[in-house]
Amino acid sequence: MRRNGLVWLAAAIALPAQAADPRQGAELYARHCSHCHGGDGRPVMPAAPDFSRPTALLKPDTTLLAAIRAGRGAMPAYQGLLRDRDILDIVAHLRTLR
Ligand code: HEC
Repeated sequence: MRRNGLVWLAAAIALPAQAADPRQGAELYARHCSHCHGGDGRPVMPAAPDFSRPTALLKPDTTLLAAIRAGRGAMPAYQGLLRDRDILDIVAHLRTLR
């Protein structure tokens, strides 16, 4: 089991209705994000943040959701392409990459 497995398990027990699904997020990430952000979170595109670093993703989920919906710099907007639920699943996956 990954280092963060217990954290996700605890979150899933605490918030059954809202818990994001990092496994679902991993599939969506591979399809929509990995060509810029790298399969393991280490960026392919130089300007993209390194999600494998412990200092990455310090912002709360809702802030990251807003950034992904709106797009940022070279990153396209995902509003209308992905549901908020899907984006939150991806954010849950991103948090397992550190
Ligand atoms: C075309 C390349 C590209 C794609 C595709 C892409 N990104 Fe990005 N992403 C970037 C770049 C470049 C940045 C840095 C933007 C900046 O700060 O100028 C970034 C920034 C981010 C950030 C940091 C935002 C912040 O506020 O700190 C997150 C989180 C993120 N991307 C998630 C995703 C997710 C999730 C997907 C897939 C749904 C995705 N990105 C798809 C290039 C991309």
